Formats: sequence, C-alpha cells, structure tokens
Amino acid sequence: MKKAPSATADSFTLTDNRTGRSWELPIIDGSEGPSVMDVRKFYADTQMFTYDPGFTSTGSCESKLTFIDGEKGVLLHRGYKIEDLAEHSDFMEVCSLLLYGELPDAKQKAAFEKAITYHTMLHEQLNYLYRGFRRDAHPMAIMVGVVGALSAFYHDSTDITDPRQRMIASHRLIAKMPTIAAMAYKFSLGQPFVYPRNDLSYAENFLYMTFSVPCEEYEINPVLARAMDRIFILHADHEQNASTSTVRIAGSSGANPFACIAAGIASLWGPAHGGANEAVLQMLQEIGHKDRIPEFLERAKDRDDPFRLMGFGHRVYKNYDPRAAVLRESCHAVLGELGVEHDPLLELAIELERIALEDDYFAEKKLFPNVDFYSGIILKAMGFPTSMFTVLFAVARTVGWVAQWKEMIEDPSQKISRPRQLYTGATQRNYLPMDQRG
Ligand code: CMC
Repeated sequence: MKKAPSATADSFTLTDNRTGRSWELPIIDGSEGPSVMDVRKFYADTQMFTYDPGFTSTGSCESKLTFIDGEKGVLLHRGYKIEDLAEHSDFMEVCSLLLYGELPDAKQKAAFEKAITYHTMLHEQLNYLYRGFRRDAHPMAIMVGVVGALSAFYHDSTDITDPRQRMIASHRLIAKMPTIAAMAYKFSLGQPFVYPRNDLSYAENFLYMTFSVPCEEYEINPVLARAMDRIFILHADHEQNASTSTVRIAGSSGANPFACIAAGIASLWGPAHGGANEAVLQMLQEIGHKDRIPEFLERAKDRDDPFRLMGFGHRVYKNYDPRAAVLRESCHAVLGELGVEHDPLLELAIELERIALEDDYFAEKKLFPNVDFYSGIILKAMGFPTSMFTVLFAVARTVGWVAQWKEMIEDPSQKISRPRQLYTGATQRNYLPMDQRG
C-alpha cells in the first residue's frame, strides 16, 4: 500500500494500490510534537490493520503529563523542563505536579506531604510475606510480589470507579514504595526492618530506612539526600515507555491499581528498560580498564555479537538524554562529598562516553548516554548494591505510573487495550488422530 499525503491540512489520504481505493484519515494536532493520524476507524473502513511491532510509530493515548522532544533532548513534565525541576524543585513537589497538573502553593504542598506521610507504614502482616522469600531473592522479585499483594491488604482503595479511592490508592503507592524497597534490602541482609519516620523528607526517610540500624544513631548526609531526591525527580515519569504502557494496558481492563503497578515493576525489570542501570555497572566492571574500551566498542558495533553498550541509546532520544546530563553533574557532587577523588568506574565511564561519542557508528545511529549511564555510579558510591538500582528506579517511577493510570481511568474515551496481529501461522486444518501423525 502506498501512502500519499493529502491535499488538505487536516487529513491524510491513503491509497491501496491493489484496488485504487483511497481513504481520508483525520490528522489530530497536539500542543507539542508530531501530529497523529487517527486510525481508529481504519479497520472498520478497510478491513486492514495497521502494523507496528514495538509501537515505533504509534501514539497509544492522549496525555497531558510529559512531553519529550527526542531530537532536541528535551523533557517536560506538565510543561516544566526537567533541568529546572531537578535544580529548583523537590520530589514531593514533582509528584504533586504530575498528579494534579500544577505546581502546588505552600499550603497545597504541605497538605500533599501530609497525605503521603500518613501512608508510609506497611500493614504489619506484610512482614510475614517477606519472610516467605529466599534471602537471596532479587529485590525486584520481592517488589513485584509485595506490591501486587497490597491489593489483598487495602480493599478500601481498589474500587477504581470511586475518585476518592483512586486518590488514596495513588497516595498509598507513592508513600509505601520506599518502605517496601528498604524492607527488601533489609531482608536480604538479615537486618531488622526499619519503620518509616514521618519527620524526614521522602528521600531522607528512604536513606534512613535503608541504611540505619536500631542499635546506632544514623545521621543523614544532606548532600546524599539531595542527590537521592534528584535521582527520584529524574526518574519520575517518561511518557509512554514500556512499563508505563504496561500499567496502562493492565489498568485498561479495570484491574486494581496495586496489581497494575506490580505489572509495571515487572516490565521495568528488563535490561532494555529499568534494568539497564544495573547492567551498566556490571558492564563497567567487566571492561575494567580504559585500555579495553576499544575492544568492547567493537563488540557493541558487531551485529553478530549480542553485546550492547548499556546506558547508551534510547527509543526516543536521538540526542543527549537531559537526565544523563544532570546525573553526570550529580556524580561529581556525590563523589566529592564522599571524599572519592578518583573513582575508577566514573573515570572509565567518562572515557567510554568520550570515545563512543567520537565514534562514527554511535554518531550515525544517534546513540547517546541515557539516564542509566551515570545513575549506577552515584548509587554505588552511596552504598547501594547493584541489585537495588532498578528498585530505586521503581520507587521513583511509581508516581509516573500512578499519574498515567489515573489519567487513563479519567479519560472518557478509554477502552480496554486490545491490539490485533498479522497472523502468519497455519491456516485451518483437520485434527489428526495420533496414529496418522508424523
Ligand atoms: N549499543 C550498540 N548498538 C546499539 C545500542 C547500544 N546500546 N542501542 C542501539 N544500537 C543500535 C542497534 O543495534 C540498531 O542498529 P541497526 O540499525 O544496525 O540494527 C540501532 O542502534 C537502533 O537500535 P534499536 O534496538 O532498533 O533501537 P530501539 O529503539 O529498539 O532500542 C534501546 C532502544 C534503549 C532498547 C537500545 O538503545 C538499547 O538496548 N540500549 C542499551 C540498554 C539501555 O541502556 N537501556 C536503557 C534505556 S533508557 C531508560 C529506560 O528506558 O528505562
């Protein structure tokens, strides 16, 4: 089928070269970014599906939350630049912005923080659920299980048709995620769970629950707390990525929000998505020395070698990921605060970035460092084991998942997500009894 742009400004004409039939498809403009061709009636009109595995050309929903201009390396939440939010805002404010659409005034911010801190504790019975896991369980496996299990504990916020229950579920998820993550870490160490402290900020409380022990005073380092808060801000939302789309698809059937967010965590886990931060550190450790960078770059360029440069490339960004630029700066602040003048991994990462950016292969394919390239170095310096990196991503992304889920439920045009397929399997045939097979 050959595509031909239409003469009119607001529709697109498609012509089937086999029959000569043409169809007008409406064009819808957004406030920023590419317009879309509305194919909702396409199947009914043409008895043909559109085909887009990986959704590289598909807009799956209308959203007012986050805008990305991948060519220019721009990321906006509700119109605000991510660099400005990382510099001037804090995570609670960004959560409120994403959920409710505007930067809160002082009173609204205080009310939001109170609403979140009210829900930081977990039902005590959930402690027993942790004990059912092996001590060496990956904390992401624990997260998927525990977050899914929240639906069995908070029945009073699973009715998705009730706006108040939706709001409470959203607050509960944002509030409880750091507690769940810290408990997963404590469980792996065999240390007692540390209960949340509502006098601390979101990031401070997370560091406290993760790194303090009941037998000693724990002093929160403000530089590390600020870096943690920034990491949360930078990961808060990112448009219709794999895990967010998973949350929306799960939610489109009417599933409860806890189950939907558990689905999002499962999707985030993979190395092509949130699991990349863990994979970056493993890759840097495997490279080990600057002298070996060319060898690994050659492997990344070799089509027959499955190795990819982790923390490089992005489906949407064809320019430097603005989040990576902020984290590159944070890296220096954190390592400076911790007195690490020369961190071999950071030096290796900077050199790898420099050489890759000068390489024709990476330039031609527009492969730049993404958010995961530098976050692992900071998290490692802060004392997190690599297995916790994707967990931290999940803690931060929860607000994005929840805000996108809420937006979807409140969208009057929302339907169950049900893609179709290009079927290439066997055509109808008769069942063969066992003695006639083979
Ligand atoms: N190293 C080497 N080559 C790469 C890389 C890489 N990291 N990323 C993409 N390419 C090549 C790829 O082989 C392909 O080449 P060709 O055109 O010759 O077939 C071309 O660039 C386009 O890649 P693609 O796989 O078609 O692009 P995609 O949009 O499907 O994948 C990606 C995007 C992020 C999965 C991919 O770039 C990747 O695997 N990167 C490494 C993993 C990573 O850092 N993921 C974190 C993403 S950001 C945070 C998040 O989403 O959670």
